[in-house]
Amino acid sequence: MTVSPDSLSRYLAEAHDMVFVCDPSRRITYVNQSASSEIGIEAERLIGRDLLLGVEEYSRSLVEDLFNQTLNRIEWHGEILLVRSGGDVFPAYVSASPIQDDNDEVECVLVIAHDITQRKKLEEEIRKRAELASSIIRTAPIGIFSLDKDRTFKAVNRAFTSLLNIRSPVSLIDQSFDRVSGEMNPELVEAIESGFDNKEALITNKPLRGEGPEDLTVSLTVIPQMNPDGKVEGVVAIIEDRTELMRVEEQMLQADKLASTGFLAAGIAHEIRNPIAGIYTVIDVLAKRVRREGGNEEPYQRILTNIDRIEDIIRRTLEFANPTQIQPRNSDINALLVQVLDFFKFHPIYQRVTVEWDIAEDLPEIFVDPKQIQQIFHNLAMNAAQAMKDTGGTLQISTHMTSLSKTGGDKWIEIRIRDTGPGIQEDSLKKIFDPFYTTKPPGEGTGLGLSVSFSIAKNHGGELSARNHPDGGAEFTLRIPVSKM
Ligand SMILES: Nc1ncnc2c1ncn2[C@@H]1O[C@H](COP(=O)(O)OP(=O)(O)O)[C@@H](O)[C@H]1O
Ligand SMILES: [Mg+2]
Repeated sequence: MTVSPDSLSRYLAEAHDMVFVCDPSRRITYVNQSASSEIGIEAERLIGRDLLLGVEEYSRSLVEDLFNQTLNRIEWHGEILLVRSGGDVFPAYVSASPIQDDNDEVECVLVIAHDITQRKKLEEEIRKRAELASSIIRTAPIGIFSLDKDRTFKAVNRAFTSLLNIRSPVSLIDQSFDRVSGEMNPELVEAIESGFDNKEALITNKPLRGEGPEDLTVSLTVIPQMNPDGKVEGVVAIIEDRTELMRVEEQMLQADKLASTGFLAAGIAHEIRNPIAGIYTVIDVLAKRVRREGGNEEPYQRILTNIDRIEDIIRRTLEFANPTQIQPRNSDINALLVQVLDFFKFHPIYQRVTVEWDIAEDLPEIFVDPKQIQQIFHNLAMNAAQAMKDTGGTLQISTHMTSLSKTGGDKWIEIRIRDTGPGIQEDSLKKIFDPFYTTKPPGEGTGLGLSVSFSIAKNHGGELSARNHPDGGAEFTLRIPVSKM
């Protein structure tokens, strides 16, 4: 069925889009209802006026140029700003087509426009949301990246690249995942890869690289991305640095344990102190009598020596459960260390130990109890020497400033004491700070050195931790805040 010219002009008149017809001199010869109501001027008053009337001032020269193009039989369309009679400006999508007569002359220009205010608003809303989402990802303190199904990076944030010490996230975009997977713990890589088989994963507290002394502990979440057909389109991975958290948790756990065992131990120590003193007095009297009578007092002396040792244990137990008041003074950590090691110089156990120093010269003085801090150094140096007593070895002592959070924050002095002995037995690592935990034969160890040291560190707002150095030997790290007290 063909449409009659009458119907056609009715359709045009009622069309939702604005319709204008102009002669080649840009004068309006026709407008439909929609056009006159959008522009806000009655149709009769628009006829004969310049088409530019409804065009916003700044769009005018553009429209002028484009209109002249149509006169050269070139169609155009695009977005311009129109203006209502009240002065309101609104965006419109406009197309202008030259209509030619039988001689191929441009007879008139048909302009169809529609208001795109709503669409523009929506576009702006979408743009804002996308911007928000990407700025959250960009600045989030957790590492985030996404891979497409070819395992190519499509989004990477700074936190992720800084975890892996890569300078810029931009440099990874469109690169293959292989570029970083070699640097990551294979267990994590496997979980990310399995995302492509549509497997979600949550892995907590694993080493990021799986090696190295400065390795970070991270948690990984893998989320496969599906398209509407249920096919895996890519993978999003979230990596959270848990190193700091783990360290704090561990120290807190140890402090709790110490507090409770310390309480118990102190109770027992207190109770046996008097009977032990009684026994000592009796044995002492016996020893003296035997000596007077010319007998062999040696067994009695052995008992007395052992009672002395028990006394010593009791004293230290009470000390650690209820440490004497801290008497802080401005102290130079390096000097305190040197004094302790000077003392050991002449100790037989240090004859086969070489001490290596790596000391930061510009450490600030800190407000600590020098005697107590030296007690820690003494305990650590003694343990190290005992660990190397059969083989000899090197004691490496280093000090430097550090701040624990990446963002700067509080300043700490960090002291590392490392030996080249056999290292701490794997199953002991979790227990060495427990009071009375020792792997040494009686007479050599009481198992109190490290728990006392831990308590002192804690009382100074500091931390003491241990690990086996990847290149062998045990390493103890003491951190003391510069201005906590
Ligand atoms: N430098 C070290 N190398 C190896 N093991 C160590 C070292 N320091 C401490 N340890 C382990 O920690 C345990 C507890 O140490 P500590 O509390 O000082 O008690 P003790 O020295 O009396 O045994 C030791 O028995 C030992 O097993
Ligand atoms: Mg010890």
